[in-house]
Amino acid sequence: MSADSASPIGRDLHINPERLHRLITELSRFGKDPKGGVSRIAFSENDKAAMDWLAEKMTDAGLEVWVDPAASIHGRRRGRDSGAPAVLFGSHIDTVPQGGDFDGALGSLGALEIMMTLKDKEAETARPLEMVVWSDEEGAHYGKGFFGSRAATMGLDPGELEMVDEEGVVLADWLRRYGLDPIRLDEARLDAQDYSSYLELHIEQGPVLYGQGKQIGVVEGIVGIDRFDVTIEGFANHAGTTPMEERRDAMIAASRLTLAVREEITAKPGRQVGNVGWVKVVPGATNVVPGLVRMPIELRDVKKEVIGAVAERIQARARGIAGEEDVSLNIELSGRESPCLTDAPLRGLIEDVAAEGGFSTLRMPSGAGHDAQVISKLGIPAGMIFVPSRGGVSHSPEEWTDWEDCARGVEVLYGAVRNLADVDKVVG
Ligand code: HGY
Ligand code: MN
Ligand code: MN
Repeated sequence: MSADSASPIGRDLHINPERLHRLITELSRFGKDPKGGVSRIAFSENDKAAMDWLAEKMTDAGLEVWVDPAASIHGRRRGRDSGAPAVLFGSHIDTVPQGGDFDGALGSLGALEIMMTLKDKEAETARPLEMVVWSDEEGAHYGKGFFGSRAATMGLDPGELEMVDEEGVVLADWLRRYGLDPIRLDEARLDAQDYSSYLELHIEQGPVLYGQGKQIGVVEGIVGIDRFDVTIEGFANHAGTTPMEERRDAMIAASRLTLAVREEITAKPGRQVGNVGWVKVVPGATNVVPGLVRMPIELRDVKKEVIGAVAERIQARARGIAGEEDVSLNIELSGRESPCLTDAPLRGLIEDVAAEGGFSTLRMPSGAGHDAQVISKLGIPAGMIFVPSRGGVSHSPEEWTDWEDCARGVEVLYGAVRNLADVDKVVG
């Protein structure tokens, strides 16, 4: 079926849904996990291979392609007015361990599909267009996340390049393995003057659209996320001979702290959420009382003061637990993404384009974090388009978005980009 033929979603589309489907399926093969799902962790061989594959596709789409010193891929399409600020749009392609095929991939490959469509149509736009694939959005390797978009805006945290992974590899060395020079990281910074707006298409990763049978989510705001590193030190001892009342068990303290996180998060009504995603126990032997535990705590809400109040209550609970379990317990802020509101005119544009396509819409917050909330700090208008996640499932091999929903989302992104780029001559 050609790009413009009637599509299964009941109207002629500008974009090519079959090509989009092929692109998403092809990308999902990079890091396909035998246990199911996709593990394309940032700064890994399969992430690099996927980036190389995508950069080649972007070049074939006629774009000027470059990888910035933070490993984000950019693809630029000339506009008639080459000096005008460009329309920027994209997402990420790295995943969580055993994640799904669509998180990040839809927005990145949707951007590519739009560039391919404009090339097919020999469309000329007034403004230049720039698609971008942000590196390491998930933070699954070094624990921070939004790496590429932070490097492009406010810059990295002090010492971030010296972080060491489980194999003892320093983050700066992974950039070198990608053929990049960490000393040039500052060159990844974007100049807000060069861009007119930023758009990101993404799966909702939650149950709202799917539950209400709505086709397009118009994101009003994105949650703030505070991440903490927790270190708990007790005393490793023989698990057979150490009387229970003499143990300084770091794992018991960690378990009590994990329950305290849930108790303090749910102590007051609201949409705040908290998570402890993993626990590392040292020495980690069956017959040794755990002497050391490391774990993260992640808190999210649309209001940073809510996050702050919960964090304070958790710190107070931690002090009590440390005293009772006779361990030292340290909770340190390791990353903070403030909540952000999307641009009101962009919300209206997304709604108008969706209505033009006959798609139903719903205004909603995002419980997931996105590069858009980082890019919005450049001071350029940022907007987000959501499509439904089946059953609201994401960050899981069960993550799924119907192909018609993928096509609708990319069609709305196409229409919004076209409006923002002021396409005045579409040939063919
Ligand atoms: O964690 C998040 O919210 C996003 O998927 N990185
Ligand atoms: Mn994600
Ligand atoms: Mn994502």
